[in-house]
Amino acid sequence: MTDAVQTLIDQAMREAGEAQTFSAYAPSNIALSKYWGKRDRALNLPLNSSLSISLAEWGSHTTVEPSQSGSDQVLLDGQPLPPTSGFARKALAFADLFRGGRDVPLMISTRNTIPTAAGLASSASGFAALTRALCGSFGLDLQAQDMSRIARLGSGSATRSLWHGFVRWDKGARDDGGDSHGVPLDLVWPEFRIAIVEVDTGPKLHSSRDGMNHTVDTSPLFSSWPEMAERDCKTIEQAINQRDFETLGQTAEANALAMHATMQAARPALSYLTDQSWAILQRLWQARTEGLAAYATMDAGANVKLAFLKEAEADVLQAFPGARVISPFEWSNA
Ligand code: DP6
Repeated sequence: MTDAVQTLIDQAMREAGEAQTFSAYAPSNIALSKYWGKRDRALNLPLNSSLSISLAEWGSHTTVEPSQSGSDQVLLDGQPLPPTSGFARKALAFADLFRGGRDVPLMISTRNTIPTAAGLASSASGFAALTRALCGSFGLDLQAQDMSRIARLGSGSATRSLWHGFVRWDKGARDDGGDSHGVPLDLVWPEFRIAIVEVDTGPKLHSSRDGMNHTVDTSPLFSSWPEMAERDCKTIEQAINQRDFETLGQTAEANALAMHATMQAARPALSYLTDQSWAILQRLWQARTEGLAAYATMDAGANVKLAFLKEAEADVLQAFPGARVISPFEWSNA
């Protein structure tokens, strides 16, 4: 199968100049209806569409420049990484999509603004910012939608990190992935809030990539996921358009719990949620009986993220002191 994205890059690279210094930013994102399961593991083509909210100033700043030392260099938060480190290998393999076989030594520096303690994966913003920076460095004039398809090859969730606000990732139907990319929803909801309720965790035992492949391969519950997820994605988009926060929240929470249920049924079972995560959920459900309009979503980690509107912020912070609140529609330099 010819990869439509590689073809796109190869065509664009025919016009490319020498690598220049170029810096770019991309926000991280949280899926309100999840991507879980691939129909093509090499091209990161999903089995279902998904929908996310970008995290404004929480994301990755990446600079790509010609390497003065004559060999590739990768820096994370100012620290040079050994070329064998996982992050360096992934970043350089991604740069190879642009370099082809050409000898163009690059320096790639990334700085994440996501508080480390928040325990959020930075691969979404990382690959989106790297895509923007590589395109800028080689002078490629590509639309955000094309860059979204390129970022997808780095990590599926990066497909949605090319824009601020709400973004849908259309799963697409083509085998070559040409129609699987992000689509920003043209709408601003300034009162929308996300809070991260942190849970103590050690290093993650399973990457989301391994976790989703294991679930697809072994979970008898997975067969019901793609259709349900597709439906949830539509329901959430409609709820956003109608500013129907309750439907949005209820659907997002149910979608996340259903995703985690598919993992628990995997053989052997897989669980990213810990006792602490469940205790937070219990506290949330109790608070909801007392009128708190906040809903939870959880990804491939133990942290719980809450979605709510500005009017509930004080009550959320009272129920979850120390939660970090993000206003997705407020950003300055990002
Ligand atoms: C649970 O995008 O990290 O966060 O495509 O294999 O890199 P790869 O997976 P990744 O998976 C994200 C899974 C999720 C749900 C979501 O963000 O939609």
